[in-house]
Amino acid sequence: MTSVANWASQRRNSVRAGSSQRLTPTVEKNSDSDDDGSASTTSEDHAAFSPVPRDMLATIVILGADGNLSSKKILPTLYSLWRRRLLPRDVLVVGFARQDWTSERFRKHVFKCIYHPSMPQAERKEFQERCHYQSGQFNEPDKFRALLSLMAHEEARRYQERLRAPLFAARVAPTTQVRMYYMAVPPFLYADIARHLRVEAARLKSDIDDAAAAAAVGAGAEQTAAAAPAPGGATTNGATAEASPTLAATAALPPPTPLRTEERFVLEKPFGRDTDSCAALLSQLQKQITEEEIYRIDHYLGKELVMNLLVLRFANVCFQGVWDRQHVKAVQVIFKEDFGTAGRGGYFDEYGIIRDVLQNHLLQVLALVAMEQPLSFSAEHIRAEKLKVLHACRPLSTDDVVTGQYAGYLDDPSVENKQSRTETFAAAVLHINNPRWAGVPFVLKAGKALTDSKAEVRVQFHAVPGAVSALASCAANELVIRVQPEELIYWKVNNKVPGLHFEVQQQRMDLLYSSKFFERKLPEAYERLLLEVLAADHSHFVSGEELVASWQIFTPALQALHASRRVPEVYPFGSRGPPSADALAHKYGITKFGGGLTPYVKKEVPPAPPAAHSSPMSVVKKRPSPKPSPKLGPATPPRATATTSTPTSATAVTVPPLPEPAILPVHVGAADAPPPLMPKPSEELPSLRPLDLSGA
Ligand code: BG6
Repeated sequence: MTSVANWASQRRNSVRAGSSQRLTPTVEKNSDSDDDGSASTTSEDHAAFSPVPRDMLATIVILGADGNLSSKKILPTLYSLWRRRLLPRDVLVVGFARQDWTSERFRKHVFKCIYHPSMPQAERKEFQERCHYQSGQFNEPDKFRALLSLMAHEEARRYQERLRAPLFAARVAPTTQVRMYYMAVPPFLYADIARHLRVEAARLKSDIDDAAAAAAVGAGAEQTAAAAPAPGGATTNGATAEASPTLAATAALPPPTPLRTEERFVLEKPFGRDTDSCAALLSQLQKQITEEEIYRIDHYLGKELVMNLLVLRFANVCFQGVWDRQHVKAVQVIFKEDFGTAGRGGYFDEYGIIRDVLQNHLLQVLALVAMEQPLSFSAEHIRAEKLKVLHACRPLSTDDVVTGQYAGYLDDPSVENKQSRTETFAAAVLHINNPRWAGVPFVLKAGKALTDSKAEVRVQFHAVPGAVSALASCAANELVIRVQPEELIYWKVNNKVPGLHFEVQQQRMDLLYSSKFFERKLPEAYERLLLEVLAADHSHFVSGEELVASWQIFTPALQALHASRRVPEVYPFGSRGPPSADALAHKYGITKFGGGLTPYVKKEVPPAPPAAHSSPMSVVKKRPSPKPSPKLGPATPPRATATTSTPTSATAVTVPPLPEPAILPVHVGAADAPPPLMPKPSEELPSLRPLDLSGA
């Protein structure tokens, strides 16, 4: 088995809840109700891989179920998983929020959140029916009691159905159930909510136990009474809630089940504003729930290309050998958005981009790029290595950070403070003090209202040392891992231009996901992460220790920026950000942060006729490209045809245009400016003598 397969199997094995249940074979339909056959998906997704057994007993509770996060992200994600048979078959979804809704009204809300005209109505209805609701304020214990009681009733009903259903008759009865609490509420509420849930659950359980004990005593007495003639000659056969005062008193309580409940709490950022507030949040929470029960979401950890970093690094000797200060000149982790705060100014203005994106998403990616190989791909080992590298990271210095604010930010109606100094752009250089990375700048750059939307990692290598004179001005290599949009990995390599003359150009060798894995839909980060919570897999969630270490890196600079009242540099909407970022880049011998614009998404190019013949080995074949102007950047790429090979056949398909195929400006190296062109043979090699590559 390959290590990747081991990974998958490890994860499967990590599913603890419901472990006494047998895994279901291929699943025919979604719930226990009749399938009308209109579902547009099959069970293939689940059969292919799901870390969650279909038999698991799971209840997903959304705290703040009427809010933005729930409506735009969580409910649609749950529905998407549900319709692809990736959630447990009889999962329950329970909403809790301030809105004075009934379950019926909540289902209408769910409908609005998940509606899509192409989705079958029956399937949507099935999902809606699994949804329940309890209204309440977050400081009302009795509302939490009502929530827990509602859940326990539904869970008991589901348990009884399991026992009755012939489908399960031959199976081992479930012993464990999972409750996932998704906190879609501001972090200051986390600890209180957890406390209410814990206290009220204990009270409810004790009431249920008492009632069960009392019912047992009552039933015993009634049995005795039934055996003996009742006064007046009547008998009390068949004790019912109506006939027995003991049972009547307990009728509102959910019936007991023998199930053990495992609780999991999903927490969203922001986890504090700095080291102290984060520590305070952690300690409040630790009083209520254990670290093992907590899943802190950083959705970048659920993105396909971010997850791939560990495979790319540790399954390829070619990367392992060059992943250090001897070979790497700089690493950049870049996040750009071509839109502004877009109505989220209320939240954003409180935090700014350093807290919103650098301290979490980008730093987590940096940790995966820089960490040592973990002992295994278990959560414990991955987190341990990430933590080590975060601890080796020196606190950010204010000399190494540039902040900016886009023009027009203060006009956003959702930004209340019209004098706000909140940064919408930041470029920061971090230093990792360990033998592998000492001296290598790690750049984290993020901004809103920039030229385009993109997230990528750029590993920039040193120029070849001691190259022969014919190759001395070649550009340095660069490995780019594009997280989004258009997932892509490419190397920038130097290559001889085919022909009789001698010319070297930097080219891209690429792995474009949409042309290589076009038959697959890449999972959304939230989809994957929610499944991993159900599977009790912490490997893509942030530990409390990592969180503290992350804040320790940024807090001194954040405090110093605040104390010095540094005003962020204003930059035009849709630009590259403040010019000072380039000055910071130059300080580290980098021409500019980031790469060029990529033509994948925006460029329209006319279709070309399919290639008459192409070998399965030559994945991409393209027409010669016109020479680009170094000033204007690369010329419009030609439409490409690609040959995709399957074990049995090779088919020509049309793929989107390739990235700029010819000369790229060099963004690394002190010499920077000159394009990576070799001197023409006519200049350096007057006669057609063989090329000397010996270095002599
Ligand atoms: C969120 C930030 O965590 O990530 C937002 O709060 C940002 O400000 C978003 O826009 C970006 O996520 P994605 O997945 O669209 O890159």
